[in-house]
Amino acid sequence: MSLEKQQGMWQKDYQKTVFSPATYQKRRDALRRILGTGAALFMGNKDVPFNYPANTYRFRQDSSFLYFFGINDPCMAAIIDADEGKEYLFGNDATMDDIIWTGEQPSMPEKAAGAGMTEHFPYAALPDVLGSIKQHGRHIHFLPPYRGEIRIEIFRLLGIAPENQANASSTALIRAIVRLRSVKEPQEIEQMEQAIDTAYRMHVHIMEHARAGMMERELCGAVEGIASAAGGTVSFPVILTVNGQILHNHCHDNILQNGQLLLVDAGAENVMGYPSDITRTVPVSGKFDERQREIYHIVLQANMEVIRICRPGMLYRDVHLAAARIIADGLTQAGLMKGNVEDAVEEGAHALFFPHGIGHALGLDVHDMENLGEDHVGYDESVSRSTQFGLSALRMARRLEPGFTVTGEPGVYFIPALIDQWESERRFTDYIRYDALKKFRNFGGIRVEDDLLITNQGCRVLGKPIPKSIDEIENIRRQY
Ligand code: GLY
Ligand code: MN
Repeated sequence: MSLEKQQGMWQKDYQKTVFSPATYQKRRDALRRILGTGAALFMGNKDVPFNYPANTYRFRQDSSFLYFFGINDPCMAAIIDADEGKEYLFGNDATMDDIIWTGEQPSMPEKAAGAGMTEHFPYAALPDVLGSIKQHGRHIHFLPPYRGEIRIEIFRLLGIAPENQANASSTALIRAIVRLRSVKEPQEIEQMEQAIDTAYRMHVHIMEHARAGMMERELCGAVEGIASAAGGTVSFPVILTVNGQILHNHCHDNILQNGQLLLVDAGAENVMGYPSDITRTVPVSGKFDERQREIYHIVLQANMEVIRICRPGMLYRDVHLAAARIIADGLTQAGLMKGNVEDAVEEGAHALFFPHGIGHALGLDVHDMENLGEDHVGYDESVSRSTQFGLSALRMARRLEPGFTVTGEPGVYFIPALIDQWESERRFTDYIRYDALKKFRNFGGIRVEDDLLITNQGCRVLGKPIPKSIDEIENIRRQY
């Protein structure tokens, strides 16, 4: 292949990472209709230095910018004007220096055309365009910024101090975006299933290769490599730990030992930015012992109950509570809880073992749109956030609709510090058998997580089924 031809390959690669221009036009038209008035400013992300300016973190575009424009490059901005039915893209063409160091880049007209737009300006024109909108007394909507550079930029452009920006951001714009992004298009589901198929390879690799004597980080590196080899990256820092009771544990320094459980919560983000979020828990020895089998069975039952009952119209809070009842019932049978299961769950006693929510929205962000405010995404007028320990951690409680994608991720954990605190405060002594828990202090934790699409009738587990029954997990290891 000639050098010129090879250099022209970027164009083909670029086209693989965007939907059709009509997709973005349609989304922006819908946003204009829902928003009604004002002009919405969208700030793309910038490169962020790792330890010096030229050594940057991997670039990640803002997800709303990706959703409405599909342009995965730093230093872009855009305005969607609902009053005048117009839209403008801001950014700069590559300089010769850029071309020398980073290669040919799509031009601004090409980027605009890919997004189905015609009007584009150099980035430096942004203050003037915003100034003219303000001068005409029109409202400028913007989203709550979550990065320091964007806070500085909004201060420069709109004169709003960083500490006031969250309050000054537009609830109308947030609500309009949540409405649109919550319901996934079939082409988005395809992207997510691609990311789940990569997660399949990540998790099956663990089931095949985890052995006593290995360090957690050896497996973590392999899992990250599988995500990178698929063209993207991991969708959040990998949780791969023999201390699964620490929910967001990013330490990978332990040596695996027979008798331990290895909890792996890991997903891939594909080339278009769509993620998977999957958890599996496997025995290091390749075989669950009796106690592990008993607790694993409870968590798996809760996972399958979520899949069985999810359907449009159901509050996700009620799905959470149904899973909590399965957990409390299982733990009662196992002799770790006692008393009436319904009452225990209503009062929140099960949260000693299941202190997080059953799941969250999944979309262009692995916790979808969390930057817009979890309560805007997971709660609405039909349900507000509980203050009860455990239930208060539920990120998604609202009524499910067809096209929503959510995670279902029940777990059971034995957290020594929490057990000690509750026992010393004599909390829920009618429901918890603290004496029986003494033998579980080193148990760790178990979580089983799948990604679900709410369909017209119920729900569908996305992607190629990732082994999760005790037999499947033990067989993979036996056969490897
Ligand atoms: N996968 C980590 C989480 O959902 O918080
Ligand atoms: Mn999750």
